[in-house]
Order: sequence, then structure tokens, then C-alpha cells
Amino acid sequence: MQIGVVKEIKSSENRVAATPAGVRAFTAHGHTVFVEKGAGVGSGFQDEEYARAGAKLLDDPKDVWAEGDMIMKVKEPMGPELDWIRTGQIIFTYLHLAANRDLTQKLLDKKIVGIAYETVQLEDGSLPLLSPMSEVAGRLSVQMGAYCLESQHGGMGVLLSGISGVRPARVTVIGGGVVGYSAAVVAVGIGAQVSILDRNPLRLRYLEDISDFRLVTIMSNPANIVEECLQSHLVIGSVLIPGARAPKLITRDIIRQMMPGSAVVDVAIDQGGCCETSHPTTHEAPTFIVDDVVHYCVANMPGAVPRTSTIALTNVTLAYGLEIAGKGYEKAMAEDPALKKGLNLLNGQVCYPAVAEAFTLPCSQVDF
Ligand SMILES: NC(=O)c1ccc[n+]([C@@H]2O[C@H](COP(=O)([O-])OP(=O)(O)OC[C@H]3O[C@@H](n4cnc5c(N)ncnc54)[C@H](O)[C@@H]3O)[C@@H](O)[C@H]2O)c1
Repeated sequence: MQIGVVKEIKSSENRVAATPAGVRAFTAHGHTVFVEKGAGVGSGFQDEEYARAGAKLLDDPKDVWAEGDMIMKVKEPMGPELDWIRTGQIIFTYLHLAANRDLTQKLLDKKIVGIAYETVQLEDGSLPLLSPMSEVAGRLSVQMGAYCLESQHGGMGVLLSGISGVRPARVTVIGGGVVGYSAAVVAVGIGAQVSILDRNPLRLRYLEDISDFRLVTIMSNPANIVEECLQSHLVIGSVLIPGARAPKLITRDIIRQMMPGSAVVDVAIDQGGCCETSHPTTHEAPTFIVDDVVHYCVANMPGAVPRTSTIALTNVTLAYGLEIAGKGYEKAMAEDPALKKGLNLLNGQVCYPAVAEAFTLPCSQVDF
């Protein structure tokens, strides 16, 4: 198969859909990979590395779109890319269609095969192409929380780890899923006193079991949330109710009572945020202060560490990309139900129920 990898054009998006090692895996299987010159630079991968991996480098993204039977991307197609798409082309990327009617209609009109990273789903319900980005955001949230607590950023000037003779900071993580666990592991690792809240008792038991008593697990309810937030230097919000806006668990009233100079990192901001005083921010201006509490609410946190994020993304997308390229998408999906869940659009029809529901469109059944 001919595969195209283009430079992302969304603002501040420095990830790329394939590392040179990923390209080498495709070429080793006999596929041809066209890579736009400079596509990997934002993630620290040079054209020469792609060339050594067997890629054919092209100057013009238009030519990559023209050559690729499958285009692998990071973000949804946009701007001129929408004109370069060919009918029947496979587009394998984060699509997030339910949030974008205009894009959905344009892609339906183009009759593409739209396979969305975010809906590829394993039998246990987990989302293997989303979770690495949650891991990145979770781990990064502690680093960003430490930044917020520095006095020059409006924080109270506390070092998370403490030092000999000085208490470490207290960190509360609300939501003990992939983001929350990743955050807690890093916070514990640097010596903070960490508590983690979840509403799922089985999840709390699991976290308790694996943490070797270094993590305090607490049932999530309004009283416990108030108590933990008021004692914490850093609160990390990482709840998710699938398919819904994040619940506002950290109220304005809690923020008012928190320690002056404490910080909230609201990772759930991409689902509206779990703190009443949050609003989305960017990497250029990541923080703001409400009632003396520093807020960090960047909706695409992995963009701050594109190299790690690109490698993490390729680690999980590659196997599916190879399946599609090797067998064709129909056979690959027939043999792998997880990949089939990724199919959102086919031949001008929506085939993913949540996208169809979002726009009251019919949802077509695929019979392979
Ligand atoms: N800002 C970013 O760049 C970024 C990056 C990745 C993920 N995220 C977001 O982070 C959030 C968490 O993602 P995840 O992958 O960890 O999800 P997840 O499903 O793995 O975990 C969510 C957890 O929240 C818990 N939860 C639900 N309601 C709760 C409540 N009332 N109190 C306490 N816990 C509750 C669930 O039981 C679950 O354990 C999502 O909104 C996701 O979109 C943001």
C-alpha cells in the first residue's frame, strides 16, 4: 500500500503521525511511505532519518495526499487538506467528528474511509490509541503543577518534594483513571504526599493494591473533595464520564477557600473541565489566577512534549496501520473487532453510532 505522512497544519501541533522507526516498519513490509519534507521536525525527527528508513520525501503536501492510499495523521484534516482528499482514501487519525458537524459533512461528501484513533476500542472497553496521550497528560500535570506553585507564576513558592527538614507538598488527584494514576505515580515518585479520589470502589481498591501504601485512596464525594482540596497545595482534575461533559466537582466556593497560591491543573478541560472556575488555555498562555489559586487548563497538553507524544502515538498506531496496509481495511477490520470500532465514515455514510446520534444522521451497518 502507498501511505502518506504529512506535516500537521493545526496551530501549535508539532506531533507527526509516524516516527522514522514507524516508517521503517512499513517499508520493511513492502509498503511505500511518502513523507512531506519537514513533517517530523517539530518532534525532532529530521528528513534524513525518514530517508534512511526508506521514505520517499516530497516537498508539497498536495503530492503526499495525491500518492497515499492511506493518509496517517495526528489531527483531523483541515483547510487546504480538505480539497486534497481523494474519494475512497483511507484517513487514519484523531477525527473527533461528534464535535464537528461541518468537518463530518465535508468528509462524508468526499466519501472517505474515516478511521478514528479515538474510537478504536478493545473488548474491555479501553481505548488503546487514546490512553498514551492520557499517560502523557497525567505525567505532565505534575510538572505543570510544580510550575504553577513557583512564586514567579503566582504560586505560593512550594517545592513539591520538600527537602530534608521541610514538609513535601500535598497533592490531590480527582479521578483515578489513566490520567489520574499517571499523575499520582509521578507525584509520589518525587516525594509529594498524594491522595487520589475516584467514585469507583473497584478502581480505588486496585490503586490501593498497586501503590504499596504510598498513595492514599479516598472515595469521591462532595465532602471528601472539599476536605482534600482545602488541605492541598496542588489539585489535579482528571475525571471522565465517557461521552459527557466533566462534572464540576471543584466548585467556585472550594476555590475561594483553598490556600492562596495553591494550584489546580484541570486536565479534564478538554471535556469542559471539572473545576467551576476553569476555562481552556493554550501553551502560549497556559495559566490564569482566580481567587489567588493558579489554574492550568491547557486542552492539548501532549503538544508540550511532541517528541515523547509522537513516539507514544506511533507505538500504538503502528500495529493497526500495518494491519490496514497489509490486509486492506475490510479484511483487517473483519479480523480485528477493536479496529472495526474505529470506522466512523465509509462511502458517504456514518458508521459510528455516537457520531450519527450527534447529528441525527442514519448509522449504517458494515458487513465485514
Ligand atoms: N488536557 C489534555 O491535554 C488531556 C489529555 C488526555 C486526556 N485528557 C482528559 O483527561 C480526562 C481523564 O482521562 P482518562 O484517560 O484518565 O479517563 P479514564 O476513563 O481512564 O479515567 C476517568 C476516571 O474518572 C473517574 N470518575 C468519574 N466520575 C468521578 C467523580 N465524580 N469523582 C471521581 N472520579 C470520577 C472514573 O471512575 C475513572 O476512573 C478526560 O477528560 C480526558 O479527555 C485531557
